[in-house]
Parts: sequence; structure tokens; C-alpha cells
Amino acid sequence: MSRKILVTSALPYANGSIHLGHLVEYIQTDIWVRYQKMAGNECWYVCADDTHGTPIMLRAEKEGITPEQLIARVHGEHARDFAGFGVGFDNFYSTHSDETRDCANDIYGKLKAAGLIETRTIEQYYDPVKQLFLPDRFIKGECPKCHAKDQYGDNCEVCGAAYAPTDLIEPYSAVSGAKPELRSSEHYFFKLSDPRCESFLRGYTSSGVLQTEAANKMQEWLGAPGENKLTDWDISRDAPYFGFEIPDAPGKYFYVWLDAPIGYMGSFKNLCARNGLDFNEYFKPDSTTELYHFIGKDILYFHALFWPAELAHAGYRTPTKIFAHGFLTVDGAKMSKSRGTFITAESYLNTGLNPEWLRYYYAAKLSASMEDIDLNLEDFAARVNSDLVGKYVNIASRSAGFVAKRFNGQLAPAAAELPAIKAIQEAAPRIAELYEAREFAKAMREIMALTDAANQYVDSVKPWELAKQEGKESELHAACSNALNLFRLLTVLLKPILPVLAGKVEKFLNIAPLAWAEAQQLLAAGHGINAYEHLMTRVDPKLIEKLVEANKESLAPAPEQSSPQRHAEHQQKEAQAAAGDEAQCTIDDFMKVDLRIARIANAEHVDGADKLIRLTLDIGDARPRQVFAGIKSAYDPAALIGRLTVMVANLAPRKMKFGLSEGMVLAGSDLTGNTPGLFLLSPDSGAQPGMRVK
Ligand code: MSP
Ligand code: ZN
Repeated sequence: MSRKILVTSALPYANGSIHLGHLVEYIQTDIWVRYQKMAGNECWYVCADDTHGTPIMLRAEKEGITPEQLIARVHGEHARDFAGFGVGFDNFYSTHSDETRDCANDIYGKLKAAGLIETRTIEQYYDPVKQLFLPDRFIKGECPKCHAKDQYGDNCEVCGAAYAPTDLIEPYSAVSGAKPELRSSEHYFFKLSDPRCESFLRGYTSSGVLQTEAANKMQEWLGAPGENKLTDWDISRDAPYFGFEIPDAPGKYFYVWLDAPIGYMGSFKNLCARNGLDFNEYFKPDSTTELYHFIGKDILYFHALFWPAELAHAGYRTPTKIFAHGFLTVDGAKMSKSRGTFITAESYLNTGLNPEWLRYYYAAKLSASMEDIDLNLEDFAARVNSDLVGKYVNIASRSAGFVAKRFNGQLAPAAAELPAIKAIQEAAPRIAELYEAREFAKAMREIMALTDAANQYVDSVKPWELAKQEGKESELHAACSNALNLFRLLTVLLKPILPVLAGKVEKFLNIAPLAWAEAQQLLAAGHGINAYEHLMTRVDPKLIEKLVEANKESLAPAPEQSSPQRHAEHQQKEAQAAAGDEAQCTIDDFMKVDLRIARIANAEHVDGADKLIRLTLDIGDARPRQVFAGIKSAYDPAALIGRLTVMVANLAPRKMKFGLSEGMVLAGSDLTGNTPGLFLLSPDSGAQPGMRVK
């Protein structure tokens, strides 16, 4: 009986480009969905852009457009990239939609009726210049543990410590540079710590819906039985915020992570309306349909705890399984902009690389585990060339021409007993299980072993020699017909990975779209095929160099973050996204530096410091700034008093042994040491303390 299956991939943020890391997930999911469809199951694959939150709001503002304009543009880019890689969503929607809003309001209302929503007043950092509450990722300061500067509000990238933004030393707003103020405001919480949620989650997370590694993680998060470690989840944000306003709470918005998973429902609801499907059949509590979420391991917390708890207590079914995958590394390291390995989907396509090469390579690496996978660029070319071109396509290219030229494009009966043919037919159910279990690498190994056997058959019958010999017509005909049957069978097995190539093969073999069951059938004698056209070229290593170059040159800003959810994985995720790397700086980056004309009101030696001079700087404020400058070797303090110079006014203040240093003055120096000395900058005459330098 055909199963009814609803599948999702995580919703990409609508403020960044799709890159090869994202594609691990979308390709993995797409392969699984294509397999399900080929196997005859009713399978729907939905996704959407994740459009809400502070980063998207600020990004739009920075670009001088509305958030709606930004998300519309990005939606077009994402849709183009996914289509380019053959990711065949049945619906690629947006969380900024009526359906998602309706579902969010509905779930919120039901949770509230169940007594699982609570309000509480909390204190949070507020940016008095920008006039908004700051998500943790937009607050920076000195790490309370290791004292590294400029660390994010939730964790330190240097020592790995996790903390609250209020623990930061000398915090500042990453948006305006202003010193944030603590302000209190009423927030809405989903009571995850409620005994009902706890007992539900203990049962749910250990019921086999999660991979073992993930289930173990959950036990850590839940705590030992009797030790409820769950804390209530803050689901509201204050205006200004780009999102859905909470129905009974003017000025309060749903936090982006509240409506993001609900976006799966919204996208499906939209599909149902268009395709006449019954939404309720899929989401009612006793549904017999299956629901699967493919996600990265960084967002497990949201999918394995919050989301099922919300669904269960709002009267909906819960996910059948949550499939988490690992992260992509390129050449053994985190994707890096300076190395050119932060590769966007768009640049891959524009460079002219075949997207199915990547689909195959990922398939050859993917398993059902949460382990990271590495894209080794050399191995990528070697593997694709050897497996796809050297082995698989080779079978057709060595036999098709003879059938066309010598036999009028018509096939002889296939030898049903041929070991290479029987081997494929016997392996097909096993390979089906591997697809079902997301063990794609194992499936590829089996398929390549079968492909080797098919090539050995062709090598043993040598059609190119038979073609030269007289009286070997029927042997040649049989050999080539068997080879093309083998090729067709292998195409069935590879089709979930290589949909475009399989389409070309179907056209060339003149057959209807291949379904999984057709691995048990052979082409009829006399079946006519079409002219063979080149199916796939080899990977030219020059293209890969070009790709890496293209991404080195890319001036695309690092993807921005959202979500202040504080738990290790997510922090790590955000840190990764945030780190990007900053070999270049955009004008926006530069404009974050608040340079001011400063008058040196006082300068004096510092007891016990052999390099420092204590400067008191007037930058037009009532309050002068104190800066410890390492210029003692070059200047006599007395000679500095009264001079104008340039200071960085929004540098995070730094606690030193001698006191607080609240900025820095600018001086030139020769890094090679050929011209020793330090040369303090001075403005032209007429400049006044406090003037902005840009
Ligand atoms: N918007 C959230 C998901 C909301 S789902 C209701 C989000 N977006 S994301 O754009 O940052 O990531 C989308 C998916 O891509 C996530 O599952 C994430 O794990 C995955 N990946 C992002 N970078 C990745 C790699 N470098 N490697 C593998 N997967 C990666 O999270
Ligand atoms: Zn630290």
C-alpha cells in the first residue's frame, strides 16, 4: 500500500545566499523524496524561506529597502539556486504568509488555552540609539572568563564560554556601538518546564524518532529523570520587529523561531489549497500519514524539543522522525571566504559546473549519521570522473552507436539470465532499503560495484571487436542490447541522485520516466532507441580553480545571524555563520568605526607602565575619555597637551591594570621597523573636538 509522506528541509534564512553547506541538506532531502516518489509513495516535499527576525529587519534597513522587498528578492534567488541543483520542492513558500500566520495564531491560542503560555517581565539590553531590544548576537563585549575583546553576547569564540549578555564586560551594541541599557519589558513564554511538556518530551525523544546520537543529546538537555532541566521558552519580541504581531498583545511579536517550524505547516497548507489535498489528514493527532523533518544538527533543540511539544499540546500530530545531518567542511576545514571555499550555489552554477556532479559526490559521502562531511575538491573531480563518466556513462557510450548504426536503433532480446543483470535485480530491494535508511554512501558503493560488473561484461564481449568481425552480427546485437539493458537498470538505481541525467537517458532509450519497480524489468526485443547524445562531461579541474577564485573575489557580506537561543549547538552554529572571515571590509563595516576628532586635554606618564601614556581626550562630550596609548617611546606627555588627534570613539572599553581605556588614538608606524617611531595623526587646522571622521 502506498504511504502518504510529508517531508521538509529546514527553512533557509531570507537574508543570505544558499551555499554548498546548505545544499548538503537540500540535496539529501531531495534524493530521499525522489526515491519515495519513484517507489510509488505519495510524497510531498515542502520548504519556505524563514523571513522574520531582527537580522532581516536590519539588513533591509541597511539596504534601504523594506523587509518585504528584501525577502521577495531573496526568495527569487533561493528558488533559482534550488532549481539549479534539481531540488524539487512541491512548494517553496515563505513564512511571511497568511497560512503561516493563521497556523501560528492557532497554535498560540491552543497553547494558551492549555495554560502553557505565561507572561513575565524580564530585563534585556536595549540599544538607546537604535531604539530596539538587542538579540544576544547583536551585543558584544569582553568575555567575562578569558577577557577576549569583542565577543558575542551569548558565547565566547575564543574560550568557548557560554554566558548571558549581562555577563559581558563593557557591553556595546553591535548595531550602533552604543552602550546598551537594561530595560524591562513583558515577554511571553511557552512553559516548556511544565510537567506535561517534560513527561511528553521524555517519552517522545526516547521513542525512536531521533537518531541515537540525537536522542542522547536530548537526555542531556532534559536532565536525569527527576531533574527537569527544561526552561521556559521566550517566544515574544518587542517592536520594532519584522514578524507576526501576537494576536492579543499589541506591540509584541512572535519570536522568529516560534513561527519558523510553523512555516512547514503554512507551506503545506498552501500546497493543499492548490492541489486539493486534505491538510487535516496530515496534521490530525491520529494521522496515519508520515511526517519527516530533515535538519542540520545545529537546530535539533528547536525541532526535537520546542516543536513537538508545541504540536502535541496544541492538538496536532508530532513528527514521525527527525533526521539530523552533520556539517559540511571543504578540504577538511570550515568553509572560508579568504580561501575561497565559502562557495555559493550561484557561483557553482555560474562557473559552469554540473550540479549533478555535486549531488553524486554528496550522495557518495552521506550516511544516516550526524557526522560532518567533507568536500575534498580534488577527490570530487576524481570521484565524479571515475564513477559517473568512467564507469556508468561508459557503458552506454560503448554500445549505443552500434545499435543505431547497425541495427536501425532496435534492440535484441536481453539475456535475462546474465549474471550482471540478475545481480542488479537482486540488489535493487537492498538498495531501496539503503535509500529509505538514508545510507546513500552505502547505496552508491553497491551501485558502483554493480556498474563495475556491467563494465566487466562489456569488456568480456568486446562489441568494438565484434563489430570488426564478419558473421558476428547477432553476437554484437546481443552484446550491445545487454549493455543498454544494464545501463537502463543502473539508471533506475541512480535516478534519485541524478534526475537530469536520468531524464536524458529516458529520452535516449525512448522510455517513460523510470520508476523503482522497473529495476525488475527488461526492455522488450525490437524496442527502438533514439540517437545517443553525450550524457555527461568530465570535471575539468580548471573549473574548480575558477570556482574557488570566484568565491575569493566575492565581496558578499558574511551571512548574518539571528536567534539568541542559548545552547551549545546553536551558539556554535551562529559562531560559524558569524565568523565568516573578514579579509575585506565593506563600507558598512568601516562605517561602524566611530572616528572622532579629539583634543588631548591632558597627558601623563603611568606609574609602572613603560610603554603607556594616559591621555584625557575631549571629544565634545561633557565627559572626557580616558585612553591608555602605547606611545611613550615617541612622545613626551607635556608636548601632547592641547594637540588635536583622531580617536576611535566606539571601541569596546578595555579594563587595564591601570584603569579603563575607553578608545584608542591613531598613529602611523612602519611595521617593517625600517623607519622606527610612531606618528600621531593630526587633523588640518579648523577641526573641532567631536567631529566625525569618515
Ligand atoms: N532558518 C533556520 C531554520 C529554520 S527551520 C524551521 C536556519 N536557517 S539556515 O539558513 O541557517 O540553515 C538552513 C539549514 O542548512 C539548516 O538545517 C542548517 O543546519 C543547514 N546548514 C547551514 N550550513 C550548513 C553547513 N555548512 N553544512 C551542512 N548544513 C548546513 O537554521
Ligand atoms: Zn572567552
